[in-house]
Amino acid sequence: MAIISDDNNFENQNLKQKNPIIKTESIEYDKTFENSIRPKTFEDYIGQSALKETLKITIEAAKLREKPLDHLLFYGPPGLGKTTLAGVIAEQMGADIKITSAPALERPRDIIGILMSLKGGEILFIDEIHRLNKVAEEILYPAMEDFFLDMTTGKSQTVKTLRVPLPKFTLIGATTKAGALSGPLRDRFGIIHRLQFYTIEELSKVIKRTASILDIKITEDGAVAIAKRSRGTPRIANRLVKRVSDFALIKFDGVITDEVANYSLDILNIDEFGLDTTDRALLNLIIEKYDGGPVGIETIAAALSEDVRTLEDVCEPYLLQAGFLQRTPRGRKVSPEGYRHLGKKVENVQQSLF
Ligand SMILES: Nc1ncnc2c1ncn2[C@@H]1O[C@H](COP(=O)(O)OP(=O)(O)OP(=O)(O)O)[C@@H](O)[C@H]1O
Ligand SMILES: [Mg+2]
Repeated sequence: MAIISDDNNFENQNLKQKNPIIKTESIEYDKTFENSIRPKTFEDYIGQSALKETLKITIEAAKLREKPLDHLLFYGPPGLGKTTLAGVIAEQMGADIKITSAPALERPRDIIGILMSLKGGEILFIDEIHRLNKVAEEILYPAMEDFFLDMTTGKSQTVKTLRVPLPKFTLIGATTKAGALSGPLRDRFGIIHRLQFYTIEELSKVIKRTASILDIKITEDGAVAIAKRSRGTPRIANRLVKRVSDFALIKFDGVITDEVANYSLDILNIDEFGLDTTDRALLNLIIEKYDGGPVGIETIAAALSEDVRTLEDVCEPYLLQAGFLQRTPRGRKVSPEGYRHLGKKVENVQQSLF
């Protein structure tokens, strides 16, 4: 399986936009690190069992019929394995995959170029697909539905429409915001799946797998301790294993035990629920300055000097899932669990808010 990226930098741009705090050097490092531990097969892809089972059946059926897979859309918070899963599917189909992202498809010729370069059965992966512009979407509709491109040539009176057939390909779209996808685009995906946060048990497996690839010694309890603070997210679990392994090496005897993990993560300001300084600052701000909310996300972002998208895509999904934050039509508010987690008195909260 060949993985061809039409823009080697797109993942970097992607990360920079999502998390403006990350510096360029660390993005390069992160990307290489992520690729070195990315599962390539369903056996190595931990968790998401219901989704995996459905996909395996769909893939086997497509292979039996000798047809390409239906177009697939994966959505869910960052780091849950959408890109990884696209690679696994390609491997299982024995198909090549071309990887790109919506911001790299700004001009019509970008999307036309990539569609015309596809071979039969090939997979086209478009990350951040909710960010496709209208023109690109309209080029994509007939390509997805009937496998052809409508091209216009000439000017004003002499305009001619040309129908260019395309080989049958599979589009895999990924997005952190399914709601931001236009209805017509969403309707053209045969299969739509939400990726779930991972359980502690699943994350422990991810951690042990990564540790063994990187030759890091870790105990069962050590893996569980890191898993508990990984916000249900394999990408975070993997980063934490690396960080904790540094502490294990320098401050301890090289083995990650639960004691080593808890000691290191406390120093890194990652609490027992995996919340970091930004998450706690967000909850604190709503409690202290806005009586627990509701307050708009733009106001929160401005007060914290954070990017709205980072808060919406990275912080919020987990805070909502953990039950510390609630979303209302008038803005975000902190739940009684959120108050308790920060050691604040819940009596101060107007009961009617909940
Ligand atoms: N199911 C899994 N099993 C083991 N490791 C996983 C799994 N899912 C993700 N990972 C690890 O987490 C890292 C991040 O996954 P991936 O890049 O696929 O996330 P994503 O959902 O595409 O994130 P984004 O929305 O930021 O693009 C990968 O490098 C991979 O090593
Ligand atoms: Mg991705």
